[in-house]
Amino acid sequence: MHQITLIPGDGIGPEVTDAVVRIIGAAGVDVAWERFDAGESALAQEGTTLPEALIASIRRHKIALKGPVTTPVGTGFTSVNVALRQALDLFANLRPVTNLPGVPSRFADVDLVVVRENTEDLYSGLEHRVVPGVVESLKVITARASERIARFAFAYARAHGRQKVTSVHKANIMKMSDGLFLDCVRAVAKECTDVAYEERIVDAACMQLVMYPERFDVLLMPNLYGDIVSDLCAGLVGGLGVVPGANLGEDTAVFEAVHGSAPDIAGQGVANPTALLLSALMLLRHIGEEHAAHRIQAALHRTLDDGCRTPDLGGSATTRQFTERICTVLGE
Ligand code: NAI
Repeated sequence: MHQITLIPGDGIGPEVTDAVVRIIGAAGVDVAWERFDAGESALAQEGTTLPEALIASIRRHKIALKGPVTTPVGTGFTSVNVALRQALDLFANLRPVTNLPGVPSRFADVDLVVVRENTEDLYSGLEHRVVPGVVESLKVITARASERIARFAFAYARAHGRQKVTSVHKANIMKMSDGLFLDCVRAVAKECTDVAYEERIVDAACMQLVMYPERFDVLLMPNLYGDIVSDLCAGLVGGLGVVPGANLGEDTAVFEAVHGSAPDIAGQGVANPTALLLSALMLLRHIGEEHAAHRIQAALHRTLDDGCRTPDLGGSATTRQFTERICTVLGE
């Protein structure tokens, strides 16, 4: 039996995690889920947004499935997602972006992976007011983290038969910080000559992505560009409801969708669980349940292809109807 930490999260989080837990159960994978609240729900009950017991559970099991957690804008508590990634040193954020059968999108041949550095950059949370009306945010880039994420990206490319790594940066303006990032990636690229390497300035990369997404393979970038570009890439294949993600450390992995808690549709029973389900398939493959992952993926593809889709994909299925349809296909 697999022991896995489960964080349902806020907003649509409990709806999509319930759906995924149900589908994994229907596929016959034996999992003991250890559930924890985080964010607003934990703050109300336990006085902290990120309970120590949750961190201890992930450290123990080395693996977690996480729903989205709300972060207040401008004021309020700091991001639970960022704190979790920093506490567990989940330095690599991996977001595969591919077309799914039956999902309407502007492009038909997207198959790329965003590799995002996950621990530093402008996400370091180092902000202070210099004088009234003037605020500084510190962008922290270190050689250690840049080299580590570069090694991860090239190793990932090799292991998954990917041909090319593209660094995305703004070193023409941030000559020192993004310059250091690029220097570190170039040094690793020199050691990995079997994988092609190129560089793009982030604004040009965005323009090319929305015109010629098929030109990209593995995209490697610092934290903030990775956050923005991965949402852009989600838009290439049908939106945030269909793109999975993984936060990976040396020996610990937290799987979560790219999307947030979607307060605009929370509680309506219409959230698309596909993104979290695809994240769970990455989790299942990570723990050696390749066969179950394959079966669930086939059932998901057939369900979508049959036209059973949630409203974000132009369909009219509720979360429950979509989930039950996948479970029915699994049982056939
Ligand atoms: P969002 O991703 O929650 O929503 C953006 C739009 O996409 C909304 O219209 C929403 O309805 C739609 N959407 C997202 N996921 C969907 C799904 N599974 N099915 C159908 N439609 C879906 O982004 P937003 O509104 O900027 O953020 C809301 C909250 O989520 C914020 O507090 C933010 O900080 C948090 N957030 C948390 C993340 C995490 O826990 N990893 C990641 C991103 C945002």
